[in-house]
Amino acid sequence: MMGTNRATEECFTLQRIFNKYGSGIHRILDVGCGTGLHSNILYNMGCEVTGIDTSKDMIDIAKSKNSDIEFINGDIYSIGSNRKYDSVISMWNVMGYVPYIDDFISKVSDIIKSEGLFIFDVFNGIAVIDTKPQRTIKAKIDNATGDIIKRTGTPYVDLMNQTFTMKYRYDITKTDGRIETFNEEHDMIFYTPNQIKDMLEYDNFELLEMTNVYDCKKATKDDWDVRYIARKE
Ligand SMILES: C[S@@+](CC[C@H](N)C(=O)[O-])C[C@H]1O[C@@H](n2cnc3c(N)ncnc32)[C@H](O)[C@@H]1O
Repeated sequence: MMGTNRATEECFTLQRIFNKYGSGIHRILDVGCGTGLHSNILYNMGCEVTGIDTSKDMIDIAKSKNSDIEFINGDIYSIGSNRKYDSVISMWNVMGYVPYIDDFISKVSDIIKSEGLFIFDVFNGIAVIDTKPQRTIKAKIDNATGDIIKRTGTPYVDLMNQTFTMKYRYDITKTDGRIETFNEEHDMIFYTPNQIKDMLEYDNFELLEMTNVYDCKKATKDDWDVRYIARKE
């Protein structure tokens, strides 16, 4: 449920951003919508939302949760240029997974209205370079099954290629004592704030704010998760 709580808080933050920098923001595209957490909350707040994700599994779950929202399985390039949105959002480092972020930003520019808001978060390259990420170990009990889930995360940084790989190992201790293990790997790209700013400006976006995603304060060099708020000219 932690994800839902975070998404709810972020949707209130999005509303504040819409009110502060936009006018009449109603039609929203949620790129990399996953299972539709943000899409659903924004829909319940009265927005018209389209969610899009390259993962069919994620989209199937999103559709099963709310059939009134348009959920599309595909990437942003499958959105026709005749469709225009008041705001495009891309939450939880989706853009770290996108191979050609400059093309991605150009496409957003193409499908967003003049004065529309583009809001996304992505790993801050300066923080990745400046702080050496450590191995993390977390454990929790699955309330539904009673299983103990231990997750060990081992980070790898490739500075020359600006990539960050997180390898997770899950050890699940079943209630009968059996242990099941599986691995998961996330390959992400990180960008410095100046790189992002340059790409936004190239596509006629003005960068309005860079904030820490959790406390919404001005981003610093130590913040890994940075939210960018940009407005199309
Ligand atoms: C960390 S999840 C974020 C999920 C979602 N935004 C949320 O808040 O629940 C990243 C998502 O981005 C999707 N994704 C990755 N590359 C994508 C792309 N090029 N276009 C659309 N979705 C993409 C993945 O399938 C995954 O669901």
